[in-house]
Amino acid sequence: MFMKIKSAEFIKSATAEAHYPPDDMPEIAFMGRSNVGKSSLMNSLLNRKGLARISRTPGRTQLLNFFIINNAFRFVDLPGYGFARVPVSIKREWGAMVTHYLANRARLVLSIHIVDSRHEPTRQDLELHEWLVHHQKPVLTVATKSDKLGRSDLGRNLKRMREQLAGEVIPFSSLSGDGREQVWSSVQQAINGLYPLT
Ligand code: GTP
Ligand code: MG
Repeated sequence: MFMKIKSAEFIKSATAEAHYPPDDMPEIAFMGRSNVGKSSLMNSLLNRKGLARISRTPGRTQLLNFFIINNAFRFVDLPGYGFARVPVSIKREWGAMVTHYLANRARLVLSIHIVDSRHEPTRQDLELHEWLVHHQKPVLTVATKSDKLGRSDLGRNLKRMREQLAGEVIPFSSLSGDGREQVWSSVQQAINGLYPLT
């Protein structure tokens, strides 16, 4: 099932809660390591090439970026974690900023956790996943860049990830569009208040 995208617009960037838009409609947040493909996933779902900035330089997105879709729900592009060259003080700020958002947003209906289908989940991937489950946040894991692997390697990695991250992992590629329909159906379910907790 694909959702018809009538409109998709950038609203604003924020760091502190005072600058978030009002907590008055469902939000779907995109999170994961720097450079994993968060912005690409968002753009691919929305069929809008340049809506969320895609960069070759990891760690570019340092703010919470809010987008409004069909005047009915929002996508929130979160800054990536795990970029080695970021100083410790900034890493701490990053953690505080993102955890504050995730912990306090009443209308956060789905956290889309994006991992790289080629690699084992990192320690930070596992920590984030545990944090989301522990705080009873509805979470969907998406293993992106699936186009970079052959069928059997992809199948093996997905099986391992489903064990390590306990739950469904959807393979996805922003190049081929693989997995778009499945991600959309989870988003739709979450907006309708029917997404199951892990
Ligand atoms: P930051 O905001 O910097 O943390 O990065 P991000 O997670 O938003 O990643 P972004 O979407 O900017 O993509 C990073 C790089 O990966 C870009 O060069 C993309 O073109 C590439 N990329 C993203 N998704 C895919 C995919 O599904 N397949 C392939 N082959 N490349 C991808
Ligand atoms: Mg990005």
